[in-house]
Amino acid sequence: MAGNLWDKGGASDTEMMRYTARDDWQLDQRLLPYDLRATRAHIRGLARVGLLDATELTALEGGIDELERHEASGDFRVTPADEDCHSAIEAALVAKLGESGKKVHTGRSRNDQVLVALRLYEKSALANLAAATQAGALALLDLAEREALTPLPGYTHLQRAVPSSIGLWAAGIAESLADALIAIDAASAQCDRCPLGTAAGYGVNIPLDREGVAAELGFGSLCVNPVAAQASRGAVEVAVLTAAWQALAAIRRFAWDLSLFTTAEFAFVQLDAALTTGSSIMPNKRNPDVIELMRAACSVLQGAIAELMGMLSLPSGYQRDLQLTKAPLFRGLDEALATVRMVPRVVAGMTFDRERMRRALTPDCFATDRAVELAIAGVPFRDAYRQVARELASLEAGDADRSLRERTSPGACGDLRLDRLRERLSR
Ligand code: ARG
Repeated sequence: MAGNLWDKGGASDTEMMRYTARDDWQLDQRLLPYDLRATRAHIRGLARVGLLDATELTALEGGIDELERHEASGDFRVTPADEDCHSAIEAALVAKLGESGKKVHTGRSRNDQVLVALRLYEKSALANLAAATQAGALALLDLAEREALTPLPGYTHLQRAVPSSIGLWAAGIAESLADALIAIDAASAQCDRCPLGTAAGYGVNIPLDREGVAAELGFGSLCVNPVAAQASRGAVEVAVLTAAWQALAAIRRFAWDLSLFTTAEFAFVQLDAALTTGSSIMPNKRNPDVIELMRAACSVLQGAIAELMGMLSLPSGYQRDLQLTKAPLFRGLDEALATVRMVPRVVAGMTFDRERMRRALTPDCFATDRAVELAIAGVPFRDAYRQVARELASLEAGDADRSLRERTSPGACGDLRLDRLRERLSR
């Protein structure tokens, strides 16, 4: 493959090239717009330190304008011959502009170029993920408000335990999503430092305007140390995917509960027919595949995180191993975003069998309430507990509505504090 950026004469082994470049050119298609933005900021920075004159800068910016238009219309494709998006951009600028195109790589390396493109991409993906997580959580809070006192058994060990409500259940998923947002914000903060200008990982002999370039790209601050900037590759990706994992773990629980609640055995919830699929052989089937895949999404993230962590056992400095961090990152983020975005649709597609849920609150579910009532009346709790246990067989079903209303410990069914949760989700 002649014509690589690093070509110094002498042929490269074709199989080696195929083996090392593999699908990077395809993956890089999605980094292309970010790399173009970073390239523009880089050349403006070069002009500020006197390494490009006004004519060269204008020509290069014009070239980037055109490449951005082509990228947006789908006409700028990275090809296998390009090796990666970084080479594709430089080759296109050289082809269009000649001499000034050849100056674009002054003071940068593909190593900091890929870092900055990834961080810009990650910041944007995390903003989308945060918005989707917030929307999912708000949909659940609205459901909690509508069904605040709709009775539902609370389970421990998957055995009926105490009276609970759809409100408590839905708000419980929403709050876990609010917790995930903390992790998503923390991962964004980690991405918000600009690595551009660290070059191959050791800086360069030019007093680059790194701060100006970072500000132009919308970064809050710099990755100061070039070696640390390189070492952050993969580690940042683990932070990003771990945050996404947290949102998906909340959704996995939601999906698990729903897959139980929609069985004929529970029959608490029915999913809209439009949210079910059929069987190729069993005419009777309507299957909730969507919630099963929402449950499985978490394991896709776990696999991607494990893949990244395994790759990161490296010494200082860029190593080509790092190229393989891209696929799990993209796979994980795509899976997370698609999954989180399904939450409001599923929430909107649930119908509750309220009577069935109420009937599931069998007398034994009120045993704890009874023991607590005796304790409030002055019977030492352990004695009350034993008394209720002895009389369990003759325990009468309590009034579910009253029981839910009277669970006034803060956060419980009678005092869900949805306003507090809404506050946590306002951003
Ligand atoms: N495709 C490469 C990657 O993702 C870009 C950096 C290449 N740098 C190098 N020194 N070979 O890591």
